[in-house]
Parts: sequence; structure tokens; C-alpha cells
Amino acid sequence: MKLGASAVLAFASAATAQNVVEFDLHRGIPGVRLGTLPHLGRRDTYAQVLINNITGGGYYCDVTVGTPPQPVTMILDTGSSDAWVLSPKADLCTNATLQQKYQDSCGNTYDNSKSTTYSLVERNGFSITYLDNGTAKGDYITEDFTIAGVTVKGLQMGYVSQTVRGIGILGIGYTANVATRKIYPNIIEQLTAQKIIGVRAYSLYLNDRRSSSGTILFGGIDTNKFIGPLHIVPILKSFGLNVHTAFEIAFTGLGVTYTNGSSADINTALFKTTDLPAILDSGSTLSYLPEQLAKPIFRELGAVTDDEVTGLTFIDCKHLKDDPRMVIRFAFDGKEIKVPVNEMVLDILGAYQHVLPSSIPYDRACMFGIQSTKNFDTSRAVEESNFALLGDTFLRSAYVVYSVEHHQIGIAQANLNSTSSAIVELNAGDKALPSVTGVPEPSTTDGSIETVTVTAKNLAPGSVRLSTGLEALAVFAVTAIFIAAGGVVVAF
Ligand SMILES: *[C@@H]1O[C@H](CO)[C@@H](O)[C@H](O)[C@H]1NC(C)=O
Ligand SMILES: *[C@@H]1O[C@H](CO)[C@@H](O)[C@H](O)[C@H]1NC(C)=O
Ligand SMILES: *[C@@H]1O[C@H](CO)[C@@H](O)[C@H](O)[C@H]1NC(C)=O
Ligand SMILES: *[C@@H]1O[C@H](CO)[C@@H](O)[C@H](O)[C@H]1NC(C)=O
Ligand SMILES: *[C@@H]1O[C@H](CO)[C@@H](O)[C@H](O)[C@H]1NC(C)=O
Repeated sequence: MKLGASAVLAFASAATAQNVVEFDLHRGIPGVRLGTLPHLGRRDTYAQVLINNITGGGYYCDVTVGTPPQPVTMILDTGSSDAWVLSPKADLCTNATLQQKYQDSCGNTYDNSKSTTYSLVERNGFSITYLDNGTAKGDYITEDFTIAGVTVKGLQMGYVSQTVRGIGILGIGYTANVATRKIYPNIIEQLTAQKIIGVRAYSLYLNDRRSSSGTILFGGIDTNKFIGPLHIVPILKSFGLNVHTAFEIAFTGLGVTYTNGSSADINTALFKTTDLPAILDSGSTLSYLPEQLAKPIFRELGAVTDDEVTGLTFIDCKHLKDDPRMVIRFAFDGKEIKVPVNEMVLDILGAYQHVLPSSIPYDRACMFGIQSTKNFDTSRAVEESNFALLGDTFLRSAYVVYSVEHHQIGIAQANLNSTSSAIVELNAGDKALPSVTGVPEPSTTDGSIETVTVTAKNLAPGSVRLSTGLEALAVFAVTAIFIAAGGVVVAF
């Protein structure tokens, strides 16, 4: 998720056009002109495996950059729009003090001096700040970029020399949201401009949290991966702007249903009186709700917020064993996505249990997959608190088709652990996403309730010995590392 400096959920620009061609013309910005939209191109679909990095709290994809190809692992992020890779000389990769400070080190890097297709666009032109306060800075370059077995020639991306995070990010949001005033075609635009896919759209299937991988399918919809009809809703224009910059849809209801069948609807009055956009952000590990929804749902499930130090909300780990029929229901204009409560329980504290504040009443505390938006750094961007940011804890239960082409989202209940495919290719001429229907019943039923325990990366559990006040901060550090893949802010 990327937020602008002055507008909410958007960047502070007067951009109005709805596609890149118009956008360039309107703003009179030099740079890459896409020419006629690639409606006549070859049409095909390409699937890329997404590795569920439970330890790192994100979905990673293995790509290659440069010629000859250098393997790079990146976090897939629907909430931002720039791709960036790490230079082997980046500060975090070379400085042990920084590695200690940010509790991170570098994964695989890309070395421009070893590539024949590298080209500099703007020295020090790239600077991005994420919602979790993470930053990355460096040059803007172009390079050949291979994903899902296809190569995008000359993709503009950040070549990062200063970072607090040791893994690059592949932002696949609206190109209008790139981290620079000089709008350029990002990977989604280039995939169509270079006639690799016919339509600027992709489908995301993160799959069960216990599954080792999910898939992103460029240019198509896999009807074996969801249950029932795909519900199609418009993407909302960003608050205060006449342009689409983020994958926001109308959020129209929230509730809990228990195993015994009884259910509770949360703050129905708020949904009646307020337009509540929900942003679908794969780059965010957790989901965030406005306080007026978060509080009642915490109360309903016995989740407790540590208001003193971390501001984070915890839940009893016993909920890991909840019957999968106990669900949180998220409604979008008449379509409900049911997320089992056990999917919202993250056992990430490991041996750090003992440093939790005493206000957290459980024998074993887990991080709750829903947090309040009130902890976002409001000084920076978020004037409007009435929005939801739905990250991986929500998205795993959904199959989501993101169409930049049609400004539409298709959403349905995910068919977890599906191993077969039935792919519908998206056609360039179509004015809207097609009406398609998934499988009638789930392929698998969640018989064994298996729990997954993870510990935030790079930390030696139990090695901390801190005074009481600092102990809570250590918890904050552990969890912050885990959720570090979170949203994106851009300060212009
Ligand atoms: C997951 O992330 C951790 C920490 O960044 C890394 O050490 C590990 O190799 C990753 N696992 C996979 C499967 O990518
Ligand atoms: C490493 O980073 C620290 C903290 O920013 C800085 O003080 C130090 O000078 C850096 N060391 C080197 C060798 O650049
Ligand atoms: C974010 O980073 C800036 C600059 O490093 C720092 O001044 C600020 O306190 C940080 N904010 C939070 C909420 O951590
Ligand atoms: C999906 O597969 C994982 C193992 O990969 C298993 O733990 C989980 O229970 C399965 N989920 C369902 C809904 O069948
Ligand atoms: C169903 O279960 C919930 C949660 O355990 C409980 O609050 C509620 O009273 C139960 N309802 C009935 C009808 O048993």
C-alpha cells in the first residue's frame, strides 16, 4: 500500500487520465510513450509461482534481471507500483551495523556491471517510503526482467543503494502510483505494451497459509481456483482524486459466524452511513480496519490490544485450533468472503512470549491478523481513517482478479489447495471482466488443524535480556520485522 503525502490513499497529483497514453499527454511529461494501446497483440497467460515465506511474512517470487540473467527474489506487492532490486553495494548489504539495527541482511542482489542490458535512467531518482516506514533509495534504471517465463525488455526499476530491507519489491499496482512525478510504464503496462499479455490484468491466488506457495496468473483467470461465481466490482477512484491509483473497492459489511451457526454483524450503522473503501494489498502481511470496526471485532474474539507500548493487538493462540467454520465475513456489495478465524492467528512470537507486556492475558499469545488503522503514522498521510487495508491474512481466503484495464476487481472465495487449472484468457477487446464461475464445492476440506509456528527471521529467540520497559519494545521489533512487508507510502 502506498500513500501520498497530502491526499489519502493516493498520491498528491492532479492526474486525471485513465490510461498511460492520455496520462503522458495530459501531463506533458517526456518519457516512454506507449503509442497505441496493445489491443492487437498476442494474447496469452503466464503463471508465476509465489513462495509463501512464512518466516519472512510475505509472498516472494523468483525472477531474473539482466543479461545474462541474474536470479533475484522479490516480494509481490499489489499495493505499490515500482519494482526495485538491491545493488550488491547497498548499505544494508555491506554494513554490519545496519544489519544489526534493522535485523535484516540482503538476499540475492543484482549487479549492473555484470549485465549488457543495463541502462541508467536517473541517478538517485528512485526514493520510496512504505507505510511501515521502510525506505529504499537509489537510481532508476532499465533492465530486462524475466517473470513467469517471459521477458519484459527494458523495464524501469529502482536500483537500490540505501535500504532498511534486504529483499526487493515487485510493485504491480497502477502505474499512476509510481514513486516519481515522471510517470513511467511499470511491469503491468509493459507486459501489454510488449504484447506479452493482451489485457492489463492478473489473478492472485495466495492459497492456504499452510501451503508453501500460491500463484499469480497474468492475463487470465483460473476458474478451478475459486468457488461459485466471480463477483465483479468497480475499483474506486482514490479519495479526493479523479484517478485510480490503488486497488480499492467498496467494503460493505463485516461479521463473525460461530461454529454453532450463530452470528454477529459488526457496526452495521457505520457501513450504512459511511463509504468505506477496502484496499487489497498483497504486500501487507496483516489486515487493518478502522477503529470503529477493529474494536468490536477484537471484543467479539477476545483479542487484546497492548495500548501501552506496541499498539499491537494479540489473540490467544488457542484460536489456531478453531474449527474452520468459525469465520470472519467480509462483504463487498453483496459478495461475502469468509475468512476462518484460525487463518487470522499468527504464532510469530516464539521465545519472545516472556517479554510481552503483562496486560496480554494469554498463556501463549499470537499476533492477530487484524489490527487497527489507528497505528498508522497519521502525521504522514492518513487524514481519512475510514478505510480498510486488507493484506495477506484476508487475501489467502479470496481469489482476486485485478484489472487495471477495466478498473474492476473480480473476487470470490478461494478454492484452497486446488491442484488443477481451467484458465480463461482475458480478451483485449472486452469492455469488462468476463462473468465466470468457479467450482461448485471446495476441492479439499480442512480436516487436520495443523498449526504453524514461526519465529521472526534472524533473531535468536531467548537471547534478549532487557529491562521491563524495553522488553515490550523488543516484542515490537520482532513483530515489526515479521510484518515488514507491509504497505507503502510515497512522500513526494
Ligand atoms: C524466507 O525468508 C527468510 C528470511 O528472509 C530467508 O532466510 C529464507 O530463505 C526465505 N525462504 C524462502 C523459501 O524463500
Ligand atoms: C555503517 O552504518 C552506520 C550507521 O548508519 C554508520 O555510522 C557507519 O559509518 C557505517 N559504516 C560504514 C563502514 O559505512
Ligand atoms: C520513520 O522514519 C523517520 C526517519 O527515519 C523517523 O524520523 C520517524 O520517527 C519514523 N517513524 C516511525 C513511526 O517509526
Ligand atoms: C492445504 O494444504 C496444507 C498443506 O500444504 C494443509 O496443511 C492444509 O490443511 C490444507 N488446507 C485445506 C483447506 O485443505
Ligand atoms: C454460539 O457460540 C458463541 C461463541 O461461542 C456464543 O457466544 C453463542 O452464545 C452461541 N449461540 C448459541 C445459540 O448457542
